[in-house]
Amino acid sequence: MLSWPIVTTATPDNKPVSIVIVGASGDLTRKKLLPALFSLYCNDLLPERFHVVGFARSTMNDGEFRRQVADTLTCRYEPEPSQCDIKVGQFLKRCHYHSGQYNNADDFRALGRRLEHLCGPRANQLMYMAIPPGVFLDTANSIRRAGLADEHDGNWSRVVIEKPFGRDTESSAELTRALGEIFTEGQTYRIDHYLGKEVIQNLLVLRFGNRIFEQIWNRDHIESVEIAFSEKIGVEGRAGYFDRFGIIRDVMQNHLLQTLALVAMEQPIELSPGEIAEEKSRVLRATRPMTREETVTGQYAGYRDDPEVPDDSITETYARTTLWVNTPRWYGVPFRVSAGKALDTQKTEILIRFRSLPFPLLGDVEANTLRIRVQPNEAIELVLNNKVPGLSLTTAPVGLNMLYNQQFDTALPEAYERLLADVLRGDRSLFIQQKELGAAWRIVTPLLEEIESERIQPQEYAYGGSGPR
Ligand code: BG6
Repeated sequence: MLSWPIVTTATPDNKPVSIVIVGASGDLTRKKLLPALFSLYCNDLLPERFHVVGFARSTMNDGEFRRQVADTLTCRYEPEPSQCDIKVGQFLKRCHYHSGQYNNADDFRALGRRLEHLCGPRANQLMYMAIPPGVFLDTANSIRRAGLADEHDGNWSRVVIEKPFGRDTESSAELTRALGEIFTEGQTYRIDHYLGKEVIQNLLVLRFGNRIFEQIWNRDHIESVEIAFSEKIGVEGRAGYFDRFGIIRDVMQNHLLQTLALVAMEQPIELSPGEIAEEKSRVLRATRPMTREETVTGQYAGYRDDPEVPDDSITETYARTTLWVNTPRWYGVPFRVSAGKALDTQKTEILIRFRSLPFPLLGDVEANTLRIRVQPNEAIELVLNNKVPGLSLTTAPVGLNMLYNQQFDTALPEAYERLLADVLRGDRSLFIQQKELGAAWRIVTPLLEEIESERIQPQEYAYGGSGPR
């Protein structure tokens, strides 16, 4: 039976919780994490007693941190204007700052004392690692040495890790192994924020909650699948990080392969995290690794002018590839996957193209398509052929278009809201499990190694254009 977990309460036990954001001075904290926590607060989805503690290297006091938070705090729930200030004020009082070095266990011990002072000795604890990959392990070790990874007296301690989880199969496995010595797999929440997006979550419902699709969701009826991600902006402000990774590691290995897995996987026997991960990892394991022949990489003009990018950088800001899922359901169906920055459109979309009719009774009618728009303007559009009203038999493809903003009278939650709420409730369904991670790296690693060892140059494309030819 399909039953999607409904978020209506904070943590099941409503025990006090301390939420620590390690790397609190970064963009992610200000732009995504704190607004998401604020929305949860406005919706009574945080336990009565909670505190948010930002931890980072810069020296700052609580007042300065709160001012920074206040400057960027936005909320999709707009309470009455008079209520808004009150809510913001109440939330800010729960925000604190603790400065320390990531590799210093004493600094984390001091943080532990502070948490105990704020939330009491019996609080649950969520540690969000919003830090660069290079300081991951040092930080995790300091947390362990300070005793903050331990769970006792029925309290939980959970750690949320942001991608990138390594740079390739080997480094990812090593990171998993090393982190596994500090946190159990059950304590570890690897976040891929695409899995928190409404439309991505809807893939399960669309596929397995509608009788009409399952019979035709296969190679007999589907000609191709396209998964396209494009952004108008370049890497402004993030070039230092991006240049070490590139778009294949930054977006394809995680967001787009997760999307592909949800489109292509078999129905899980139940909606438990283990069963969903099992099906996703099976389909990823059946996917042939990317090849040079079927991949185009590009770099937008001007990328190397960024002071943080070396003059001879070959990092790709665009990639397009064809993937083949070698299962009886999909054998021979191309999955065209693309991701790019500094392009002419801003969108993430899945396009399922069905095969043409076997017999041309009506002449040359177009094949049906199902367009699943992840963002912006979330929508599901099924294009069917119709008779154009009139005396002649003329046909035209017409879209049955379900626009989320017209259909549902509610603002869509931000991905991070859903995911943070899930961590608090201990639901790991939307988090990446160890086995899927390895399966996804297996698809991209050989080509990445080839690109690096042979210094394969990406094609240059115009900023704001349609990408390389
Ligand atoms: C992040 C990538 O994971 O996802 C960014 O690191 C990318 O490079 C971002 O811009 C896209 O997320 P969204 O939610 O804006 O589609």
